[in-house]
Amino acid sequence: MKKQIITLGVAALVIAAAAAAQAQALDAATLARFDQGPAFINVSKYPEAIQGRYKIFEHTCSKCHRLSRPINSDFATPDEWSRYIKRMMYKPGSGISRRNAKKIYEFLVYDASVRKKALLDSKLAKMSASKKAVEEKKIAQVHKEFDDQ
Ligand code: HEC
Repeated sequence: MKKQIITLGVAALVIAAAAAAQAQALDAATLARFDQGPAFINVSKYPEAIQGRYKIFEHTCSKCHRLSRPINSDFATPDEWSRYIKRMMYKPGSGISRRNAKKIYEFLVYDASVRKKALLDSKLAKMSASKKAVEEKKIAQVHKEFDDQ
């Protein structure tokens, strides 16, 4: 009886671990969809300092997969970008410094608010009022820092 309970406990743990892994990594079809789109962004109309940050993004985020993966991903909100940049930072050998992570965040938040505006707006519209306010403030901060430079 005791052995059965232990076996059940182990099985439950294995199932829980598999569910957690699934919740984290996107499926292969989604990744392929991200990867297949364009691998560059035309940043010629972005502020100069944002163009400089694009170079850091380009260099850093194409080390392990094509740059097309982040470019064509469904991520658009500041919260999504900070989570994913952190996730990439902690991958072995990523070589992403905190300083560059911040610059890449600024680029991706700025870019999403221009290039993915429709997607960003639809995500904001689905949020609670308080969460939406926090996210809008973060987007406004990046624009305030970089617009008219
Ligand atoms: C050290 C290697 C490495 C670097 C550097 C890296 N990535 Fe990734 N990235 C991965 C791996 C591996 C995956 C596959 C799925 C996973 O584990 O999230 C991935 C997946 C992704 C995805 C798809 C979502 C997902 O979770 O599968 C996005 C978006 C992404 N990376 C963005 C970035 C950005 C932005 C940068 C630069 C800040 C970056 N990556 C740098 C290894 C890396």
